[in-house]
Amino acid sequence: MAKKKAAGRSRKASKKAAPKRAQQVTTTAEIESVLREQRVFEASEEFKKRAHLSSFTKLKRLRREAEKDPVAFWERQAEALDWFRKWDRAFEWKYPFVRWFIGGQLNASYQCLDRHITTWRRNKAAIVWEGEPGDQRILTYDALYNEVNKFANVLKSLGIKRRDVVAIYMGMVPEAVIAMLACARIGATHNVVFGGFSAEALRERINDSKAKLVITQDAAWRRGNEVRLKDAVDEALKKAPTVKNVIVYRRTGTEINMKMGRDHWWHELMEGASPVCKPERLSSEHPLFILYTSGSTGKPKGVLHTTGGYMTQVTYTTKMVFDLHDDDLYWCTADIGWVTGHSYIVYGPLANGATVLMYEGAPNYPAPDRFWDIVERHRVTIFYTAPTAIRAFMRWGESYPRKHDLSSLRLLGTVGEPINPEAWMWYYTVIGGKRCPIVDTWWQTETGAIMISPLPGATPLKPGSATLPLPGILADVVRSDGTSCKANEGGYLVVKHPWPSMFRTLFGDPKRYKEVYWSKFPPTKDRNGYYFTGDGARKDEDGYFWIMGRIDDVVNVSGHRLGTAEVESALVSHPSVAEAAVVARPDEIKGNALVAFVVLKAGVKETEKLRQELREHVGKEIGPIAKPDEIRFTDALPKTRSGKIMRRLLREIVTSGVIRGDITTLEDKAVIERLRQQLGEES
Ligand code: WT7
Repeated sequence: MAKKKAAGRSRKASKKAAPKRAQQVTTTAEIESVLREQRVFEASEEFKKRAHLSSFTKLKRLRREAEKDPVAFWERQAEALDWFRKWDRAFEWKYPFVRWFIGGQLNASYQCLDRHITTWRRNKAAIVWEGEPGDQRILTYDALYNEVNKFANVLKSLGIKRRDVVAIYMGMVPEAVIAMLACARIGATHNVVFGGFSAEALRERINDSKAKLVITQDAAWRRGNEVRLKDAVDEALKKAPTVKNVIVYRRTGTEINMKMGRDHWWHELMEGASPVCKPERLSSEHPLFILYTSGSTGKPKGVLHTTGGYMTQVTYTTKMVFDLHDDDLYWCTADIGWVTGHSYIVYGPLANGATVLMYEGAPNYPAPDRFWDIVERHRVTIFYTAPTAIRAFMRWGESYPRKHDLSSLRLLGTVGEPINPEAWMWYYTVIGGKRCPIVDTWWQTETGAIMISPLPGATPLKPGSATLPLPGILADVVRSDGTSCKANEGGYLVVKHPWPSMFRTLFGDPKRYKEVYWSKFPPTKDRNGYYFTGDGARKDEDGYFWIMGRIDDVVNVSGHRLGTAEVESALVSHPSVAEAAVVARPDEIKGNALVAFVVLKAGVKETEKLRQELREHVGKEIGPIAKPDEIRFTDALPKTRSGKIMRRLLREIVTSGVIRGDITTLEDKAVIERLRQQLGEES
């Protein structure tokens, strides 16, 4: 969030005085919002002509109707899936637990595969894959169906059954998709762990989910280097008693250890596998996957998603938000290890019979135009990426996209953090040639699917705004007491009615689920409980949502949500560190950079070498993305009387150098003074 202040101007006054170029500031007790964007963009007539929905009036009507009866709206969308048995009841809400399409039976892999192979799509490309070294593979729906059936039988042969948890720790290869769909086919619950996470992080996620089997690969290609995934699995499994078997896909061919009896080669198991595996008839609430995400306390949260509601919303949103047509070549650049990869590389697009482009490697390998080279060669039509990537492209310069013919593109998307209007305009102009609408999609691991977004043929776009909640999504911006904010008043982003792809709980920890998401706005006699997103936002006078980012101690670095507490606990696990507090400061490229305040144990010297060592240590504990960009040694941290670190104050120190907020709860005021002086000395 921009931290600029239009000094001394009240919201009302500035609105009257200078509606066009005003930079207005609105403040509530907790949240401040800076607004100034006034431009509006509409889709071209050509785009509208073939869009699934092309009228804003119609969209507004649809939203109004769905708001009155969201359950009826989502029932209509659920009918687009192939159910083995129709549901008896669409919705049940027992605060804070929800069930959708109760009594219904279906299978997610059936939605993605079986229902296409009986149609003309059988020989349509499902996945167009490009490896980082330049190798290519195309899997038709029929080929993908065969591989998934065989691999489902492989899993069964290793004793995997319904509700068993299978960890997937892979790079961006088609086999990762095959593994996910094979789990779904037999009713096993997958737990994909991002391949950039360390052995320690993998172990924690395996143990918390009690995974029985791990699927991995020897190594993955990244910027010309091999990321040795199997080595990390070996390390993780030193203390992971639930895992009985490991399946290893050979990707780079590098030498690895294979532990007899435990480790098996993918290709060897597949050789003997039968090509037919009937999809299990699963209940709508059958657990499809667990995905770990950061929370504001140390331990990652196992977000649990189920089948019927999730598939309904990802299928609907993929079709409508990306205005997907059968001749599109759709590319979402996310990694399969994040929810974006689950919902918008695998389940949503494949359920719609789309052709999905999948790329293994880095955007700047061998050169910073790799993405544009891919777009040109494959004639990508829909491109979905993150603001952090867009900012990196901006920094690398226009010459790279300008070298390529990007005229195949017709729609652009972004997700992961607020996109600043400058980046939006660059994306619109340089990548989209002013021809492609941009869908700025707001959602979370917990929401499972897109919640707030334009429908590109219908919604007029404002750079930097995710625009309006989708039909059937009752989002709002409220004050601490739950009352709705006025136009342009900053507040908490909430959802007032459960939606189908909502996560059902935190795996193994329903108490934390209730505490984190449902206790800030609990039910009262006049209202239901609201889901609290953890984000701050405001709605403008047109009802458009402007997301301001996380308001707790979770930060967004390069589009990845990191719990600062996790980074802190990694730092504290180093023998030299007594205490640590991590906060974010805005960073042009990454969105946020991490600044760690570290108190060393008595007698330990503050050296440059130790700084490096601590950064590496965090990299090893969590993964390279969590390495603090800056480490500041200090002799104490600001704390409340109850001993809570006041990260808010540290945040102010690293962003503005000045403390404006309330410090009445601060235990030792001298600490702040010392931190500030130290800052002065360093800069
Ligand atoms: C958090 C969720 C959903 C997949 C990627 C991240 C931020 C996400 C937007 C957007 C502004 C956004 C929010 C949200 N966020 N999309 N379009 N505009 N902020 O998933 O790791 O669960 O993070 O990302 O702060 O709460 P995640």
